[in-house]
Amino acid sequence: MTDSLYPSDDSVISARGGWAKPSSTPPSNPPIYQTTAFDLDGLDQLAEVVSGEQHGYIYTRDGNPNQSAFAEDVARLEHAEEGVVGASGMGVISALVMSHCKTGDHILAARVLYGRTVQLLQQMQKSFGVEVTFFDANDPASLSTLVRPDTKLCLLEGISNPLMEVADLPKIIEAAGSVPVVVDNTFATPILQKPMKMGAAAVVHSASKYLNGHGDVMMGVIVGNKYIIRRTRQFLALFGANGNPLESWLASRGLRTLPLRMKHVSETAISLAEWLDSHPKVDRVYYPGLPTHPSHKIAQQLLPNGFGGMLAFDLVAGKTGVNPFMKSLHETIPFSPTLADARTTLSYPTGTSHKFMSAEERAEYGIKDGLVRLSVGLEDAASLQTELESTFNQL
Ligand SMILES: Cc1ncc(COP(=O)(O)O)c(C=O)c1O
Repeated sequence: MTDSLYPSDDSVISARGGWAKPSSTPPSNPPIYQTTAFDLDGLDQLAEVVSGEQHGYIYTRDGNPNQSAFAEDVARLEHAEEGVVGASGMGVISALVMSHCKTGDHILAARVLYGRTVQLLQQMQKSFGVEVTFFDANDPASLSTLVRPDTKLCLLEGISNPLMEVADLPKIIEAAGSVPVVVDNTFATPILQKPMKMGAAAVVHSASKYLNGHGDVMMGVIVGNKYIIRRTRQFLALFGANGNPLESWLASRGLRTLPLRMKHVSETAISLAEWLDSHPKVDRVYYPGLPTHPSHKIAQQLLPNGFGGMLAFDLVAGKTGVNPFMKSLHETIPFSPTLADARTTLSYPTGTSHKFMSAEERAEYGIKDGLVRLSVGLEDAASLQTELESTFNQL
């Protein structure tokens, strides 16, 4: 045994350990670049990486191969130029808004949005003097009258939560004129709808939902034209709201099955929606695939590959039925205030995502106190129907 195999300094072996010899056979799956920083061979390399002359990474807050891999795949799926990931959907939406608006600027936002997005916009108004006008996404014509010279962004969701209204994106984008329209495509995913192809400037996702699809990641992603993405990327890095390597790697793994999952949940959701629609314990079902849904015609045009896995329904028992319904389903279809897990889950918009609204506002938007939201997972429709039926029988 030579001294070079067994150097005398244990501290050197320990501190520099962990490196295997490079393999002549590449890994079948991408490695996780679990590193804070990347080594540089000198100042000339630093300058070339910073200028973009050389492809490389410097510090994970500013960029990392796992983040790039996921963002670039989502950009390709959405037909966008570039993409960047953030610590969560809200991290990305916050960086988008703050990087595009300063005091006195104006934002147009759909009046039914994920609750935290509305809260963020209200906070921007209160703390930073950014003006926000909420518009009715079901009335695209009204939008053109609200556009101002200082309007910097128009923000809306392709399929709204919790009533699953489908926005007429081509009409809205036309009405917004030169204002960049940013679509939150979390519910539809690029498998069912590609807003960039309709003229959107950017698309945001809570990647914690369908893109990952296994309920074990917290991440966001924005893809779009390079101007929007570069500004947003800069703010994400400044705020430290960047994505991280492990979450990006997990989300990339989830993304591989996205088309299969979206097909499955769309097929299961329509069959459950039809069954629930004629169920005596259910008052009304909200699913864009049903002819009774107000958005059905637009949904048929804009969502030709399926209507997604999200549906909601009003219990005949109203608010008093909600807790017994959840408790009875607890072991099979749990109350979990998220969506797009591999398993089917339940949520209660009045108590979670739309709690921030007053009772009057919810009533005005049609969100009733007995409304339950189902995120249909990967189980077979027949099993879910049996579990729901047994719960309805106990109500
Ligand atoms: C439509 C939509 N957009 C954005 C978000 C925020 O994403 P995140 O929870 O990853 O911050 C959510 C979260 O539920 C959502 O449902």
